[in-house]
Amino acid sequence: MINIKENIKNVKEFNLLYDAVGWGAYDERITKKALDNTFYSVSVYDDKKIVGYGRIIGDAICFLYIQDIMVKPEYQGNKIGTMIMKKILERTSEIKKENPDLRVYLGASKDREKFYEKFGFIKRTDANLGYGMILNK
Ligand SMILES: CC(C)(COP(=O)(O)OP(=O)(O)OC[C@H]1O[C@@H](n2cnc3c(N)ncnc32)[C@H](O)[C@@H]1OP(=O)(O)O)[C@@H](O)C(=O)NCCC(=O)NCCS
Repeated sequence: MINIKENIKNVKEFNLLYDAVGWGAYDERITKKALDNTFYSVSVYDDKKIVGYGRIIGDAICFLYIQDIMVKPEYQGNKIGTMIMKKILERTSEIKKENPDLRVYLGASKDREKFYEKFGFIKRTDANLGYGMILNK
């Protein structure tokens, strides 16, 4: 049965999914530090087997980043990604009550924008929202 858990910091599960979606898992030492510094996460299980994951990083009040939304390929297309995003957005809504100016960002892989648009995300093409940039060296 599909079940969802919050704030599980399991390095092996995270790396298993990272490999499964083709991103190439980090060294376990790096994953451990990344998970230790994660603000909020959801892990989805089929019984006890990890099948999906997503997390929020950030300062917990002004800026949050949604990262690493991943569903095991054989489970994709069954609304598990939707389940993860809904749970994550419940958490961001709680923070928004504390700080209405909260900004929630994410970086979508190419051609994944449609998935995120369903949850209200837009492309940043407006100077007021800040254009997206990333350090490239
Ligand atoms: C993207 C991902 C998280 C979606 O999870 P999922 O469980 O397969 O998605 P869902 O079943 O909840 O689909 C929800 C909706 O998004 C759409 N969608 C799903 N994957 C999509 C994709 N790759 N591109 C565009 N739309 C997508 C579905 O068609 C569905 O639309 P509908 O509501 O009109 O039926 C999953 O496919 C995945 O892990 N992919 C590999 C890793 C990845 O790219 N993660 C995102 C990083 S930016």
